[in-house]
Amino acid sequence: MPRCANETETGLGLGWTPPEPFVIRFETARLVIRAYELGDAAQMFEAVSASREHLLPWMPWAREGHRDVEASVHYITTQIMAVRDAKTFSAVGIGIFDRASGRLLGGTGVHGVHRDTACAETGYWIRADATRRGYCTEATAGVLSWAFRGQSEGGLGMRRVVIYCSGENIASRRVPEKLGCAPR
Ligand SMILES: CC(C)(COP(=O)(O)OP(=O)(O)OC[C@H]1O[C@@H](n2cnc3c(N)ncnc32)[C@H](O)[C@@H]1OP(=O)(O)O)[C@@H](O)C(=O)NCCC(=O)NCCS
Repeated sequence: MPRCANETETGLGLGWTPPEPFVIRFETARLVIRAYELGDAAQMFEAVSASREHLLPWMPWAREGHRDVEASVHYITTQIMAVRDAKTFSAVGIGIFDRASGRLLGGTGVHGVHRDTACAETGYWIRADATRRGYCTEATAGVLSWAFRGQSEGGLGMRRVVIYCSGENIASRRVPEKLGCAPR
């Protein structure tokens, strides 16, 4: 069964294209993982501001990114626009929210999409005061399930998802280890 819309109709490798409509929202036991909305800007700014030192060694965007709410509005606008055009889509940042409270706990996403191989990367961050509770592992398990699920079942229909992290980033390294991902 084809995993993406035009897999059988193109001579260009797997010819992955985004699902249409491209709705990004799924849940895990404790989390809602969904596309950012403009109403998230204030808490995005707050979460990054409160976590800058924690993020900075590994996420260079945390140095200059989200320095005010307007910057978070701009970031979210960019993510909203990124999924609007199926022809140009190659990356989108996605929010990780507490299911019970709606609080923004961190971010994930898909990026570096290769349409010919139906391959993408994912990454993650969790706000400093919410770490070590299994949120990242839970969110990433959800992202991988969604990414590999066929598009007719609400997934992305990816064939491979890659997580890059520094070997020195022990917390980040543990996430794919705990999920049984094959190291390379
Ligand atoms: C990496 C990160 C997302 C992990 O988030 P998290 O929600 O705390 O992760 P989890 O709770 O799911 O824990 C995953 C594993 O990492 C371990 N871990 C988490 N923080 C740790 C730390 N500071 N030191 C050592 N191990 C740590 C956990 O104990 C768990 O392993 P265990 O079950 O064997 O004990 C978070 O630390 C973070 O945002 N870091 C800064 C940004 C970053 O490095 N992103 C990844 C870039 S590749």
